[in-house]
Amino acid sequence: TDRYAVIGNPISHSQSPFIHAEFAQATGQDMNYEKLFAELGQFVPVAQAFFANGGKGLNVTLPFKGDAFRFADEVTEAARLAEAVNTLTLRDGRIYGDNTDGTGLVRDIVDNLDVPVTGQRVLLLGAGGAVRGVLQPLLAQQPQALTIANRTVIKAESLAYQFRALGDIEAVGYDALQGRQFDIVINGTSTSLSNELPPIPAGIFSGRSLAYDMVYSRGLTPFLRRAQSENAGMLADGLGMLVEQAAESFRIWRDIQPATRKVTNMLREVLA
Ligand code: ATR
Repeated sequence: TDRYAVIGNPISHSQSPFIHAEFAQATGQDMNYEKLFAELGQFVPVAQAFFANGGKGLNVTLPFKGDAFRFADEVTEAARLAEAVNTLTLRDGRIYGDNTDGTGLVRDIVDNLDVPVTGQRVLLLGAGGAVRGVLQPLLAQQPQALTIANRTVIKAESLAYQFRALGDIEAVGYDALQGRQFDIVINGTSTSLSNELPPIPAGIFSGRSLAYDMVYSRGLTPFLRRAQSENAGMLADGLGMLVEQAAESFRIWRDIQPATRKVTNMLREVLA
């Protein structure tokens, strides 16, 4: 039985063991997937011990994605650009780091929600790690335009500059969104975690806009409630992204692509 785990702090509420157990069962993989807690500052010894004791792969969640990035012997292009790793794999004595968050987001939007990113006007709210982690896969879809809005505008400008080779990115403050509309609005701020709303002006959603919150929750987040009140065409939280990023990690480890929809539906019921 191959051993995997998710490491984080806190970790007790992680849905990853459930998701991977479902994937393993559905694809007939003989594997075990645990939760691994590490004290702050203790990522490296805990991860090292896990791999030294037969661990094959680790998912990494907050606040350790940067530690995992530095821990890996080799990282993929996606992880390098994200400066964060959420998937570690031991192969031939070396640790490989990948980041599947952006792939997960794009798969959820394009495949599950059936909303194209290509040719669309995309607005990303926030300029922290969550947004950095998804920029490359979003730009790879070749949106018509990609706008990053952040409270601290210089952080949005810095991201736009760093990713300029991958596509045209506009960086703005929230005020500059006044009078504009977008086809896809993705909340990548941490506001939903504290039940807050990013300061978006009224009118950015149209009846055919997708409002997507990268955070998932039981009811609608404040951002999704706002989108709903403005009659946005479609609302989605980050549960689909969570399951899709897990599926991509599973594929990296086991070389099998698990089906996701049933697992997402089951999780939705668990959360309700
Ligand atoms: P993460 O890694 O989750 O992205 P982060 O790097 O701390 O976390 O970034 C949090 C993001 O949420 C930032 O874009 C932050 O805006 P600032 O860069 O201006 O701080 C944004 N954010 C958090 N609380 C916010 C609020 N009340 N209103 C608007 N933006 C907020």
